[in-house]
Amino acid sequence: MVWKEWFGRTEQQTDKPYDDLDPARVPRHVAIIMDGNGRWAQKRGLPRTFGHRAGAEALRAIVRTTAELGIAVLTTYAFSTENWKRPAEEVDLLMNLFSDYLDTEIEELNANGIRVRFCGQTDALAPGLQEKIVHAEKVTAANTGLVLNIAVNYGARAELTRAVRLIAADVQAGSVAPDDIDEEAISRRLFTAGLPDPDLIIRPAGDLRISNFLLWQAAYAEFWFTDTNWPDFRPEHLIAAVADFQKRDRRFGGLNK
Ligand code: FPP
Repeated sequence: MVWKEWFGRTEQQTDKPYDDLDPARVPRHVAIIMDGNGRWAQKRGLPRTFGHRAGAEALRAIVRTTAELGIAVLTTYAFSTENWKRPAEEVDLLMNLFSDYLDTEIEELNANGIRVRFCGQTDALAPGLQEKIVHAEKVTAANTGLVLNIAVNYGARAELTRAVRLIAADVQAGSVAPDDIDEEAISRRLFTAGLPDPDLIIRPAGDLRISNFLLWQAAYAEFWFTDTNWPDFRPEHLIAAVADFQKRDRRFGGLNK
């Protein structure tokens, strides 16, 4: 199914909440820490895994709205390098969810011009899931719409450590001189290479922390928090976050014009 363009604002669509946003000033890159799945389930007396399933449902609508708003990149934190500490049953369920998501969503994502990318140490995932990741990235590689960047087995410190190792190897091989190592050299060796830094980072579920997410890339990101748990996060929340972002005065360490 090819989604309808809402952001073009036709006569019939003037009641859409997007009308309050300035299409010229949407963030280029939105990143979301999809937190609160467990609490959402606990509140309902359900196993935590139900919260993750509901979280995957919530993601569908958010991907669609993100694309409709004309945002270029959406990074979603789906599984951190620290999440391996969770019970095996929960880890297995999450891995199955990622796999099912790729099975069921890739066709529609592709039909809507979305490019799927993964961010993290995916080579440590089960071979079957790795194959699906490679397939999803390959079939959507030429798409020019939203980049959906899914962070799986991602940790910012591990990402930076890896970048340092890659640079050290290049220095040892003689292809990079220590004086040539600049910020760009580091950015190029991160999993997010080629993507703009996040402009807006959203964290649902009430905690006010970064949790090892995009530490380098978030240098000048704006943050938006809500107490709503991720499974209850709806396009209205995203629109509220973008509306708030549009009110911020971003100076990047400089002064107002
Ligand atoms: C954090 O909430 C959430 C996770 C560790 C998993 C996020 C995964 C999804 C939303 C599944 C869908 C993703 C894709 C890409 C299909 P938590 O369980 O730590 O919540 P809690 O803090 O309330 O326990």
